[in-house]
Order: sequence, then C-alpha cells, then structure tokens
Amino acid sequence: MYTQLEQRGMLEPPVNVSTLRAMKQNGEPIACMTAYDASFAALVDAAGTDLVLVGDSLGMVIQGHDTTVPVTVDDIIYHSRTVARGIRRAFLVADMPFMSFTKPAIALDNSIRLMQEGGAMMVKLEGGDDQVEIVEHLARHDIPVCAHLGLRPQSVHKIGGFKVQGREPDKATEMCASARRLQNAGADIVLLECVPNEVGKMIRAELEVPVIGIGAGPDVDGQILVLYDILDITQGRTPKFVKNFQAGRDSPLEALEAYVREVKNREYPAPEHCFS
Ligand code: KIV
Repeated sequence: MYTQLEQRGMLEPPVNVSTLRAMKQNGEPIACMTAYDASFAALVDAAGTDLVLVGDSLGMVIQGHDTTVPVTVDDIIYHSRTVARGIRRAFLVADMPFMSFTKPAIALDNSIRLMQEGGAMMVKLEGGDDQVEIVEHLARHDIPVCAHLGLRPQSVHKIGGFKVQGREPDKATEMCASARRLQNAGADIVLLECVPNEVGKMIRAELEVPVIGIGAGPDVDGQILVLYDILDITQGRTPKFVKNFQAGRDSPLEALEAYVREVKNREYPAPEHCFS
C-alpha cells in the first residue's frame, strides 16, 4: 500500500486515524497546527506535527476578515490542495466552512469535494447535538470526521463574541453529553475550543476517540494552535492560550519544532494559557 511512500524515502507510514487512536491509548500527546500553503506545510511536517488542519481561520489570517464566516468551500479546497503537496507524514484535516453542512446530502457532497479536490483525509465541522445526524451520514459513507465543540467561531454573531464556553456546570455536562453522542455517531476526533481545564479533562475521560484542545487546558490528548499565532505573525490582541514560539529562535522551523516538543513534553499549555 505504501510503495510510493517508500519510493519517496519514507521510513514509516504517514499518520492515520489508527495512529491517532493509538497515541491516545498510549498517552502520547498529539501535536497539531494549522497550515494554509505548501511551503509552510512542508515546515510544519518537518517539525514533526502529527495533524495539520486547513482551518477556516484562513478567513482571518490569510484573507483579513474579522471572522471565519465569509470562507467558502472553494477557498478551503484551494488551500488544502496546496497544503497536501507540502506534507509527507502528517494527517490532513480540512474545515467545513460556514453553512456548508446544513443538510446531510449537502455535507456529504462538500466533504467529497474536500477529500477529492482538496486532498483532505478528514473533515472538521463545528456543532453539537444538531450535527449528530450529519456526522452519522458522513460516517456511514466512510468520511472521517472531527467534531468541533466549545467555542464555535462560525457562530460568533449568535454567541456575541469569542468567549470561553462551558463555565456553568449544566453547560459543561451538556457539552460532555454532546461529545459522546458525536463520538457514537461516528466522529473520529473531537476538537474542543476555549473551555475551562476541567471541561477538557472531563470530555477526554468520557471519550475513546482523541480529544484535541485549543485553549482547553493540559488534560486532553493533543493540542492545536493557529500557525501564525505560533510564529507571532498575527498582529494585535491574541487569545490567552496563544504562545509565541518564535521569540528567541532564529528560524520558523526552530519555532515549530519547539512547539511540537513542548506539546509532546506537556510543557505547553502552561497555567497562563488556560481557562478556569
Ligand atoms: O479554523 C481553525 O483554524 C480552527 C482552529 C481554531 C482549531 O478551527
């Protein structure tokens, strides 16, 4: 199966869903970050990143919008295709943009496009219980899915800002139950954004599939950050969970390697990057 990869000089198979599950079982933290083009994707991969996300954050960091809402399926496909050319080992996930999964059939059509045209190996979609039917439909068609809970940036206009989610005990319990339902529907990964440490810990313990956090504390199975935040390219105010890994380092590759190392050693996130 991996003849072409052997020909390209790869010593071991690339990361896949089984690798990620095994990492959770073995307690090895999963290091993830975003990428949007082939050159950065090659650096991200060379740094030892396990999972690369072509996030709809590209609407903000590449296109200059204030939110991720304007991003289209064609935008994600364009960037995912370029990232796919840059990576060798990492697992490639592409975001389903705003309103691209309003019905099971629409979600399936757009997922197929992200995989066939964008080279993605998994799709990520924001939402809780409302998305169970969609996840079930995609899973039935063997589309790998990452469910995104906690802060859902596509809903920013409804939520009224980029705010920490799940602080109230009933909301935390609800989120945990949604995570289990999404897993049972077929989600292969759950991503948690901006929740208190305790919520991250509870959901990780509840699920068999890996839980990847961004601002979800240290007690999850892996961490993800936006590439431009890691490299201190993002201007202005950044969220509390962001750490500048470029400071004191000579090259972007050194900064990315430092991020992967700190995730693997559980040095990142430190208490100052967490919510209570
Ligand atoms: O779009 C994105 O980059 C994301 C991350 C915040 C995880 O969803």
